[in-house]
Amino acid sequence: MRFVLPKGRLLTGSVEILQKAGIEVRLPQGRELMTKNGEYSFLLAKSFDVPVYVEHGIDIGIAGSDIVEERESDVFVPLELPFGKCRLSLAIPKEKSVKVEEMDGFRIATKYTNLTRKFFNEKGIEVEIIKLHGSTELAPKIGIADAIVDIVETGNTLLANGLIELEKIMDISAVLIVNRICQKTRFEEINGLILKLKGVVEDEF
Ligand code: PRP
Ligand code: MG
Repeated sequence: MRFVLPKGRLLTGSVEILQKAGIEVRLPQGRELMTKNGEYSFLLAKSFDVPVYVEHGIDIGIAGSDIVEERESDVFVPLELPFGKCRLSLAIPKEKSVKVEEMDGFRIATKYTNLTRKFFNEKGIEVEIIKLHGSTELAPKIGIADAIVDIVETGNTLLANGLIELEKIMDISAVLIVNRICQKTRFEEINGLILKLKGVVEDEF
């Protein structure tokens, strides 16, 4: 069974919960991106790409629900995991705060172009979206955007950059994701794994 794990913030929580479920995780070492341990192979991918691997044939993975939504990944999501809790929010410089309804023509910097477009479309507001790959808080600070859509966890990054949250767009959590075909063809195995992880989630949190 091939398991894809996200590099970055969700990695520690992912390894921990798998270990607790009795899976002996062995992470790739050095520049390696894939390693094998018994019946499992472990792959390390950029967090934004984990659902893409699972959609295209890797059996199972752990990803942020934000990424699954943003990439509209066609994967089975059997379980919410008790870490990676944060939210996707619209934020704006404190001194330029306006109502969302007054944001017509605004430039919005974000990694989440699809979710941002949907959010404003649903409100009938036309904005210009500037795609960035991170550190979006910089964009309004230096004036290349009017606002951002980004992840908020503690709120420290917003605070440090003079931004305030205008509206929460969605809650986010780490989730278990399963390839749709694999979910059918290896049902017993996958289901056993889901039940073990569910047990850990219920016992500990
Ligand atoms: C993430 C996110 C926010 C920040 C939120 O950025 O994009 O900037 O963390 O966390 P906080 O509310 O606890 O401050 P990260 O530093 O992970 O990297 P990136 O922006 O380069 O993707
Ligand atoms: Mg950031």
